[in-house]
Amino acid sequence: MALAVTNAPRFTAAEAMQMAVELYGMRAEAEPLPSERDQNFLLRTESGDRFVLKIANAGERREVLEYQNAAIQRLAERCGDLRFPRMAGPMVSSGGYLVRLFTWVEGTCMARAPRHSEEMLASLGRAVALIDRALAGFSHPAAQRTLHWDIRHADLAREHAHLLPEGRRRIIDAGFAAWEQVDWSALRRGVIHGDANDYNVLIDGDRVVSILDLGDSVETAVVCDLAIAIAYAMLGKPDPVAAARAMVEAYHGEYPLTEAEVDHLWTLAVARLCLSVCYSAHHALTLPENDYLGVTDAPAWTLLERLSEFPEGWPRDVFRRACGFSRGRGAAAIVASRRDHLGASLSLSYRQPLHITHGWRQRLFSTAGRGYLDCVNNVAHVGHSHPRVAEAAATQMRALNTNTRYLHEHLAEYIERLTATLPAPLSVAYLVCSGSEANELALRLARAHTGRDQVIVVDTAYHGNTNALVDLSPYKFNGPGGRGKPAHVHVVPTPDPYRGGFRGPQDVREAAQRAGAVAAFFCESALSCAGQVILPPGYLRDAFDAVREAGGVCVADEVQTGFGRAGSHFWMFETQDAVPDIVTMGKPIGNGHPLGAVVTTREIAQSFANGMEYFNTFGGNPVSCAAGLAVLDVIRDEGLQENARDTGAYLLGRLQELTGRHAILGDVRGRGLFLGIEFVRDRGTREPAAAEASAAVEAMKERGVLLSTDGPLHNVIKIKPPLVFSRSDADLLVRELEEVLA
Ligand SMILES: Cc1ncc(COP(=O)(O)O)c(C=O)c1O
Repeated sequence: MALAVTNAPRFTAAEAMQMAVELYGMRAEAEPLPSERDQNFLLRTESGDRFVLKIANAGERREVLEYQNAAIQRLAERCGDLRFPRMAGPMVSSGGYLVRLFTWVEGTCMARAPRHSEEMLASLGRAVALIDRALAGFSHPAAQRTLHWDIRHADLAREHAHLLPEGRRRIIDAGFAAWEQVDWSALRRGVIHGDANDYNVLIDGDRVVSILDLGDSVETAVVCDLAIAIAYAMLGKPDPVAAARAMVEAYHGEYPLTEAEVDHLWTLAVARLCLSVCYSAHHALTLPENDYLGVTDAPAWTLLERLSEFPEGWPRDVFRRACGFSRGRGAAAIVASRRDHLGASLSLSYRQPLHITHGWRQRLFSTAGRGYLDCVNNVAHVGHSHPRVAEAAATQMRALNTNTRYLHEHLAEYIERLTATLPAPLSVAYLVCSGSEANELALRLARAHTGRDQVIVVDTAYHGNTNALVDLSPYKFNGPGGRGKPAHVHVVPTPDPYRGGFRGPQDVREAAQRAGAVAAFFCESALSCAGQVILPPGYLRDAFDAVREAGGVCVADEVQTGFGRAGSHFWMFETQDAVPDIVTMGKPIGNGHPLGAVVTTREIAQSFANGMEYFNTFGGNPVSCAAGLAVLDVIRDEGLQENARDTGAYLLGRLQELTGRHAILGDVRGRGLFLGIEFVRDRGTREPAAAEASAAVEAMKERGVLLSTDGPLHNVIKIKPPLVFSRSDADLLVRELEEVLA
């Protein structure tokens, strides 16, 4: 191959003009066009007609060019929807080079389009399909050649992989390893165009009118044509899989793919990119002066690095759905099914609900081929689909899953590890299946220990979905469908430093006096439903003192805030210089596996052990404990608490900068990776800007960033992403938000 490139003709424009006169009797101005192996000139005659003079590589066999000529002719005859060049004279040998003259094809080079719309990409997919259909059944002895750009022969490129640095090598090796698994016998064979890169594609508006240059045409697996087109089309795209999807769907609509072809398509497209960067590495060494060869190298690396972060199986799933090979249903059918068969008390996120099939780290991936930065999912604490958590749970599920009446080391290890994260008095754990179960049990513990009934809660709090917890949740009992505050519940004002209207622990002291026989004070260590409120310093410490003086116990609801999210501490209550009597946990604890926990003091646990057993069928089962252990391991091994501290502080600083430029941002607050942005119409009156906040959330979704609103006034954007959230994610979030606000 290097030989072919080095044998590229090197004529000047003047020599090309001379050639046109001598060989074709044509007087014309010549202008060089880009090419890798050959040399092409645009000829402009005096009458304004345009032609292309193609001077083939000296190493090119006549038979190969004859084959290409025949293929072009076939396309021109059978592919009426597209324009193709026609031979404007015979193929002639001149000075050891074979020269051809073609008519010029009108159109704009797609590479020069400022943007590739979905319509344009679909048109490209359709054009490749038209070509493949027109070439079906066409054969020529020269098409059987071994071409280095043919994905079938990616092993030729692989020989140069050793030239790549370690990190990049890993990406390439994975691409080639998948390529090795391709079952070529399952793929239809045929002659393909083989080079639908956007420099070869001509457009008219959003419509593709031609794909030029059959120099890489070869007989191989037909689906390689689409794979090559996709590999190029994905370069530089914000959502490469969505771009590919548009092409695949259109191709399939014109010239149906087989199921096997669809299943191999992604592997082949990635292999083509791998092949391309391997040759670039080789050329950088052997032909450093040939710029054309490295044209796609930098964007190809950017793309390959991004693709390597996509969840395995996601692009294939997207393509299968686009071609109707998936058993999965479309969004509309799922919405209809939910409407018909799911209790209606559950709303969907976003005006156009998202159909998500895959998650990876801090990103979610949709059936439409789009990736989203997930800034709200605090359940996928160590990252969506973390392999260590998935593996731990799956391995245990294959071995055993039972209730906790048998001995199992996972349970023993887990409760030891979990209690070790807490201050000494908190040493006895109960394992349950959700945050609600945890708070429900906490209430029972408090009542059993104190022999009392009354409970103090914070206004706008939410503690869970059971009967008893709806009673403890002003967010629910004062909200739509709520039945108001029950007599045994006492509500203190939200200690919200931005909106004020509270007196701090004094409110709790007075509530305790009002309550008389107070059993418990329930409080989140930072308030989520109240609108991502960071408690005033020492609020919990002093409130806990007041409750204890009144004979009650203090419950810290860490369902949203625990496990390192605070950054500076593992538990958010620690930032308050407070030690609760009971801590409840949920959401992040199992990274999505339904697990919850209550940890309390030995004394309280003793009071609860009054003869009535606490049995929980699923709570603490070996699978849950395996997941929980893996979560603790990952938080430690990946330094996620430290990341929450550093990235959280960075993000808070960047968001606070925005408040200087956008008056609608009344307050930006946070601790670690638990942040809130409060929207107001007027900074003086603090009139809430709920509609604006939710419009911003919708606009951010369109830009690929997932957020949501919270707070009693629905005007706070909450940010509580998986703890693997990075600085560059923070930059992306701030950049997009700034544009949306502008
Ligand atoms: C602070 C708080 N406590 C408890 C719960 C209840 O947890 P679950 O939904 O797992 O029952 C939630 C759920 O949103 C919560 O936010």
